[in-house]
Order: sequence, then structure tokens, then C-alpha cells
Amino acid sequence: MKDDYEIVEKDGILIARPREGSKPDFEERFLRAGIPPAFLDRDFKNFMLNPDYPSLARARAAVEKFAELYPAVNGGLLIMGPTGVGKTHLAVALCKTLLMKGAHCIFVDFRDSMREYTSYPNQDRREDYLHYLGSAEVLIWDDFASRSLSDWEEDFLYRLIDKRYREGATTVLTTVHQGESLERVIGVRLRSRLYEMCREVEITAPDYRSKVRRLSYRKGGKFEEDKEG
Ligand SMILES: Nc1ncnc2c1ncn2[C@@H]1O[C@H](COP(=O)(O)OP(=O)(O)OP(=O)(O)O)[C@@H](O)[C@H]1O
Ligand SMILES: [Mg+2]
Repeated sequence: MKDDYEIVEKDGILIARPREGSKPDFEERFLRAGIPPAFLDRDFKNFMLNPDYPSLARARAAVEKFAELYPAVNGGLLIMGPTGVGKTHLAVALCKTLLMKGAHCIFVDFRDSMREYTSYPNQDRREDYLHYLGSAEVLIWDDFASRSLSDWEEDFLYRLIDKRYREGATTVLTTVHQGESLERVIGVRLRSRLYEMCREVEITAPDYRSKVRRLSYRKGGKFEEDKEG
């Protein structure tokens, strides 16, 4: 794994990047980390920008910079924005970059994590799962707080975030919630911890899914109307 990447200097800072010319087979590692198979090819380069929505460029730059600087970062990220603006895309791009740098990174969908936690028939297994997510070097929790929680789930969420908060572990969340709506789902105490744990990255843009048929990718990463469609 060490031979897959090289240390280079960028803006006066040492960063790790995949070695030029080598095409390491990371796919297996990406899948094991929990990246959804349909998102394996998402990266920063194929995240398109649109000059009408400058927050796309700001968000991509912020997440990419975070990936480059890691582990020399303070805290994690809270990527916020309405549906279809590319939050999961950026979170996957980040996860892949961190895995390529050798970080122990877990990518998990919020609903899947809740389902998995509650599916365990006994407390020991549930504690193991909490420990598994809680002790990840970087936890990327996608679609965070995407539904209301039972008392059990609320307890799980509180203990997991509080553990990561106390240990200063890097946590990256994506969510459709903004402002008070996040607080309504997770409560004031968890919201308060997240203020300290994560820097907010906000995206305001149209739902990419509704546009995807009319757009094609052009080198340079700009939206472009598809001439055939
Ligand atoms: N700026 C973009 N450039 C290229 N592809 C994009 C961009 N934004 C979104 N997409 C693509 O559109 C689809 C939806 O994006 P994504 O799943 O990241 O949205 P989301 O913000 O996570 O939405 P949701 O809140 O519904 O989960 C994905 O296939 C993603 O790769
Ligand atoms: Mg998403």
C-alpha cells in the first residue's frame, strides 16, 4: 500500500497523492470502506461546476483541500444542502482520497447504520457496532439525521457522536438539514457538539438529478448542455 502513493510538497505542505503512472487497484478497499458501488467512480474531477451557483466551487474546493491537508486538519466537515446537489458525491470523493492516503476511513449511510444497529439481537453486538463506527479514524456519515429516531436510536446517536467528540476524532457528515431543522431531529446537545466538531460547507444549487439527462461533462469541470438531448 505504501508504494501506491508518494509524498509531495504543495503550497509549502507535504501531502500524499497516488504515484504518477501507477494505477493501484483501490476498488476493493473502497468497497470495504462502505462506498456504495454505484458511486465508485465519483471524484473531485468529475464534480462539475456551474458559475451560476458559486457554492458548488466553494464546496468542492473546501472538501478537496480538506482531503489534501488531512491529517493536518482541525475537526471534520458538515456538508449541508438540499437534495441532489452533490453532497454524497463530494463525501465519496473525500473518502476515496483519504483511503488512498492510507487513512482508516468508514463511509456509512445514516439509515443503514440505524437499521444495522437495531438489527442486532443483543446488547453486546450493538456495542460492537457502536465501537466499530466510534473508533474509525475518519467516519463519513452520509445523509445524516435523514429520519426521526426512536429512543434507542437516539441513545446510539448520542453515544457515538459524544465518543467521537471526546476523542477529537474526525467526523464528516452530509445532511439535507439546515439551520434549526437539524437541531429538531438530533436535539440541542448533539447540535452543539457538531458546531465544535465540524466546519460547515453549504451548497445551494439545483437538483443535479433533474438535470442529468440534459448535461454532459466537458473537460474543465463545467456544466454544459448536452447537444444531443
Ligand atoms: N456537481 C456535480 N457534478 C457531477 N455530478 C453531480 C454533481 N452534483 C451531483 N451529481 C451527481 O448527481 C447525483 C446526485 O448527487 P448526490 O447523490 O451526491 O446528491 P446529494 O446532495 O447527496 O442528494 P441527497 O440529499 O438526495 O442524498 C449523483 O449521481 C452525483 O454523482
Ligand atoms: Mg446523498
